[in-house]
Amino acid sequence: MNDLEVQRTDDGTATLYVKSLNEHYHSVKGALTEAKHIYRDCALRHHTTHTGTQPIRLLEIGFGTGLNAVVTAMAADTTMPPIHYITLEKYPVPAAIIEELNYGSIVDTQLLRDIHTALWEQPVSITPTFTIEKRQCDLLTTPLPSDIDVVYFDAFAPEKQPEMWTPDVFARLYKAMRPEATLTTYCAKGVIRRMLQATGFAVERLAGPIGGKREILRATKG
Ligand SMILES: C[S@@+](CC[C@H](N)C(=O)[O-])C[C@H]1O[C@@H](n2cnc3c(N)ncnc32)[C@H](O)[C@@H]1O
Repeated sequence: MNDLEVQRTDDGTATLYVKSLNEHYHSVKGALTEAKHIYRDCALRHHTTHTGTQPIRLLEIGFGTGLNAVVTAMAADTTMPPIHYITLEKYPVPAAIIEELNYGSIVDTQLLRDIHTALWEQPVSITPTFTIEKRQCDLLTTPLPSDIDVVYFDAFAPEKQPEMWTPDVFARLYKAMRPEATLTTYCAKGVIRRMLQATGFAVERLAGPIGGKREILRATKG
């Protein structure tokens, strides 16, 4: 795909640049650093500190390169409840481009391969504690799964894809989430924070990843 270019971020891990949008899949300050801090630590690990041993239903908006998924699979050890990871993606990245990313040298290569070769539209068990369900669909029109505990809201930026950051989208996510479920996003803009609050979430501003954005948002369903 001519529209996608592999680039290196400041922590040495690769990301994709979308020429037509002038937008990256990850923070240029560090793709892996972002995946670990905003999603694994501020969402998943935060959630598991107060949920006990119940299996976790996690919803990702934007599978993209699969980096968030593999970082989550690596965290899903026996100290954590089993994770069912549902990820939505409208435009799957071609396998040839995934091959060009340098994630194989940074994350668990077998997990990375298994996640990328997992069939779409069905749950696939990757490890005893991590199942992935990749759905090729449009967030704006697809029915959302229910009883979600954790949401990784990783859409392209509001100024690039405003249709993904609307009261309607957040209301649908809110409805899909269980009480006390957690959503995190890298976007800390005031307009998005107020939209999440108007939806009914309690919203916190948290410190961003080291070397990256100053703040990120975590929204919790009351
Ligand atoms: C910021 S990137 C996600 C990066 C990804 N989480 C990763 O770890 O590589 C945003 C993703 O949302 C996808 N996307 C764009 N519009 C969408 C839509 N309407 N429904 C579902 N996914 C969409 C894009 O194709 C892209 O993969």
